[in-house]
Amino acid sequence: MFADRVLSGMRPTGRMHIGHYHGALKNWIRLQEEHECLFFAADWHALTTHWEEPENIAESVWQMFIDWLAAGINPSRATIFIQSRVPEHAELTLLLGMVTPVGWLQRVPTYKDQQQKLADRDLSNFGFLGYPVMMSADILIYQADYVPVGEDQVPHIELTREIARRFNMFYQVKRSYVFPEPQPLLTPAAKLPGTDGRKMSKSYGNTILLTDPEPVVRQKLKTMVTDPARIRRSDPGNPDICPVGDLHKIFSDQPTIAKVWEGCKTAGIGCIECKSWVGDALVNVLNPMQERRKKYEDNPRLAWDIVENGSSKARKIANATMDEVREAMHMSVDFEAPAKAAKNQ
Ligand code: TRP
Ligand code: SF4
Repeated sequence: MFADRVLSGMRPTGRMHIGHYHGALKNWIRLQEEHECLFFAADWHALTTHWEEPENIAESVWQMFIDWLAAGINPSRATIFIQSRVPEHAELTLLLGMVTPVGWLQRVPTYKDQQQKLADRDLSNFGFLGYPVMMSADILIYQADYVPVGEDQVPHIELTREIARRFNMFYQVKRSYVFPEPQPLLTPAAKLPGTDGRKMSKSYGNTILLTDPEPVVRQKLKTMVTDPARIRRSDPGNPDICPVGDLHKIFSDQPTIAKVWEGCKTAGIGCIECKSWVGDALVNVLNPMQERRKKYEDNPRLAWDIVENGSSKARKIANATMDEVREAMHMSVDFEAPAKAAKNQ
């Protein structure tokens, strides 16, 4: 049906905000029209950093899936599933671990970065060091061709390619390679600031959620920071350095953008008016999502069934790959072997 397989995953962090939509979901929704797509909730990945407090992970997975479906992930096109529902990921992680030098993992840039950033967490665990191996297994078990990710994840895809190459050198099935080398699909998404001007992130408390009703969206925009040089209504501003300007670039149409740039630079418009226009654009994007989510909220079983079916579909693909992997690594036990050996003596 499709020539290429696309795979991507997201850590379950609960409700999605417009940063997730702009940085990942929008791209996934486009890709599902042209490729075979698999998208999953990386609940085991969440555990690598949050192993001390696993109680919220399941709820976050659930909220995330509803947001994906509401945003427009189409279950008749894309397969969505939960990582832990496909335990073969763990088997492949273990086996890939055999060919992965520890030095490669210690050199992954996110290893030290995250340890510093999340200094309040205990990240001296084996699971956290091995997390890029698990990510490689996530990708390779589906023999994926393309992996849409943000810039920060590219080193992990690079590592995946190296692990695939090393595996292919040591083990083959009838001299042919088991793993294709996946390519990252970079989404050069324009930066999306939160309401305080920093990157939109749950931990900063500066998000606009896909589930925020119109009054909440407008209220959040009202307190959003603007070009600090524009103190009075009569001061001209610069939308290119204003976080509200960034939102216009992403969500508004051309005529509105032209109106904002002209009006802001000449002090012809006020920030309140400008924010109301970006509010209109956001509400236009969020309304159909909030409409779509109703049917899943009224009947959660619907969403569960989708994820259930997706997980068993994923499992079939994963198992087919594992058959090859086990054969290549001489891990498929042949119960006839002792009898055959006896006969040959
Ligand atoms: N590590 C990714 C992140 O933190 C999530 C992830 C896990 C992923 N496994 C993956 C992404 C496989 C792409 C493919 O965002
Ligand atoms: Fe920012 Fe708009 Fe105000 Fe200009 S008019 S400073 S773009 S909010």
